[in-house]
Amino acid sequence: MAPRVLSGMQPSGLMHLGNLLGALENWKTLQAEHDCYFFVADWHALSTNYADTSRVKEYTQELLIDWLAAGIDTEKATVFIQSQVPEHAILHLLFSMIIPIPWLERNPTYKEKQDEIKEKDLSTYGFLGYPVLQAADILLYKPDLVPVGKDQLPHLELTREVGRRFNSLYTPVFPEPKEFLTQFPKVLGIDGRKMSKSYHNTINLSDTEPTVRQKLKTMVTDPARVRRTDKGNPELCPVFDFHKIFSDDSTIQQIDIDCRTAAIGCIDCKKQVGDAMVKRFSPMWETRAAVTAKPTQTQEVVEEGRQRASVVANETMREVKEAMKI
Ligand code: TRP
Ligand code: SF4
Repeated sequence: MAPRVLSGMQPSGLMHLGNLLGALENWKTLQAEHDCYFFVADWHALSTNYADTSRVKEYTQELLIDWLAAGIDTEKATVFIQSQVPEHAILHLLFSMIIPIPWLERNPTYKEKQDEIKEKDLSTYGFLGYPVLQAADILLYKPDLVPVGKDQLPHLELTREVGRRFNSLYTPVFPEPKEFLTQFPKVLGIDGRKMSKSYHNTINLSDTEPTVRQKLKTMVTDPARVRRTDKGNPELCPVFDFHKIFSDDSTIQQIDIDCRTAAIGCIDCKKQVGDAMVKRFSPMWETRAAVTAKPTQTQEVVEEGRQRASVVANETMREVKEAMKI
């Protein structure tokens, strides 16, 4: 049996280039040789959006489209929505009985997020329990690997601790899943800061070719290049990072020289990287058009995913109840 992989994403906005090159590319590699479960963590999105839930459903659909367009293959991977598999909530409830509150309070992301998102009241039970729900998400499927970014490591550690505590209180049910760390290449946004939806500086997977080109036009470059004749340093330019990701080696070398000697202007340089990006994104745009043209097909895929996920989740819940004698 192929090793099992499980991962989830919150539907908290449109996916951008940073997400594609990080998490999604990883998932695509894994789906070839692993038994993959990928789900939309829509309940998790409620932990920070409970006061305004108006977009959760829409973003859930958008996220699914992004995944399918980017090449998540539902012949290989099981794709589903968290809230359609109620066992996540049941296991979360049972875990909430055994997890000591101090474990949650000392979780670094709990404090960090609260400080970061000052405009929302996050002193809720659900927000504190975010990692308990995540532990349930993961352990229900007894995965070998959980592909996540570095920021999620405390949650994964907590997941293993909850599993261990369950096993020692009752009978061993849960194995210890390992992280599969996502390498995030350096992707800066069009304003030169880290690409992030909260900065409104992203290039989205759902952007069309004209939008991508337009965003590139407004993208910041090496500030030393005020006039066309000013020499630049590509290492100080976020456009050059895009070249490193999307252009071939000879183009990258040429740009490196031409920028430093002012042989090329930023407008041409951006046009070249735009061409390379369009080439890379075209298959994705085609798949997206096909996917959005057939919304019922996406619903079918998700329904099938729900069924496949439920089989595994139900079996684990049977073991859990037996272990707890309930
Ligand atoms: N907390 C994760 C994030 O914000 C999303 C998530 C929820 C998740 N449940 C999960 C990731 C289970 C991996 C496994 O990125
Ligand atoms: Fe950046 Fe290209 Fe302009 Fe150099 S020429 S500053 S790499 S956009």
